[in-house]
Amino acid sequence: MGREGRLEGIRTAWISGASSGLGAALAENLARRGVEVILSARRAELLEEVAARIRASGGSARSLPLDVADPEATVRALCRLDDEVGGLDLVIANAGVGNSRWAGRLRWEDCADMIAVNVQGAAASLVAVLPRMVERGRGHLVGISSLAGYRGMPASAAYSATKAFLMTFLDSLRLDLQGTGVLVTDVRPGFIRTPMTAANRFRMPFLMEVEEAAERIVEGIRKRKPIVAFPAPLSTAARLAPAVPACLWDWMASRKGPAVDVSFVRPRQVFDEPEAGEG
Ligand SMILES: NC(=O)c1ccc[n+]([C@@H]2O[C@H](COP(=O)([O-])OP(=O)(O)OC[C@H]3O[C@@H](n4cnc5c(N)ncnc54)[C@H](OP(=O)(O)O)[C@@H]3O)[C@@H](O)[C@H]2O)c1
Repeated sequence: MGREGRLEGIRTAWISGASSGLGAALAENLARRGVEVILSARRAELLEEVAARIRASGGSARSLPLDVADPEATVRALCRLDDEVGGLDLVIANAGVGNSRWAGRLRWEDCADMIAVNVQGAAASLVAVLPRMVERGRGHLVGISSLAGYRGMPASAAYSATKAFLMTFLDSLRLDLQGTGVLVTDVRPGFIRTPMTAANRFRMPFLMEVEEAAERIVEGIRKRKPIVAFPAPLSTAARLAPAVPACLWDWMASRKGPAVDVSFVRPRQVFDEPEAGEG
């Protein structure tokens, strides 16, 4: 494994949602830079495949199957791991779920899953060993939020809201942890080609390959950036979105958002598969 671009002070890293997509790419990138990575997700076999691939390339990796939707189990597992490795240096709360559903067909199950993983799971992951990091006077917490968290996006009420939670949570953590030696990075990506976006049937502007996204994130961590947002054109637009008045946002987001490709049909036909018995 290459030694260039090594991360100063980061020996061990735990990454949630590392069985596929961005989490797996982050693990591979970190391992190439000499970091010992511990990978978590629910699908143990896939996790072990990623870990084995890293080891076969000369890196150090192991899998720790975990369901972050169980926050107490997550905290316990991370504390045990922290003891085992002699102090985690980097925690990446990457695990997330998302789907597009027109609000007129939103069911509680759609919201519950996203809140359990993207909100409870992420918060539990980020605070699990935080007091220990503060005591040690070092550590780095990273959360993967989204550009979709700046404003309610079409057909994404639950997803946008869970990412808004994470953005605000990380903002406050960073504020409080100034001077403690514990760093906080909020990663706000646009569209990345992963299993999560593979099912999307709407246009995804500036869709990025997962390896490039992982490289940008790890470079942001190396440079100790508080916020890593990309790609630039989308992140600039997303940053400005909260200042747009509601009446203008409603018009813009429904015309320029994912529904743009089919602006003359009902949104539910854009985002959702018809259910059995529906035309
Ligand atoms: N792709 C994008 O365009 C995009 C854009 C902005 C932000 N993001 C964020 O990036 C993160 C990674 O997403 P991705 O695009 O890489 O999607 P992905 O390929 O679907 O990966 C999601 C990962 O989360 C894990 N996961 C889901 N529920 C879990 C649970 N209860 N406990 C533990 N792990 C769980 C999955 O593994 P198991 O199923 O094995 O548990 C999987 O490894 C997410 O937080 C997502 O919201 C993605």
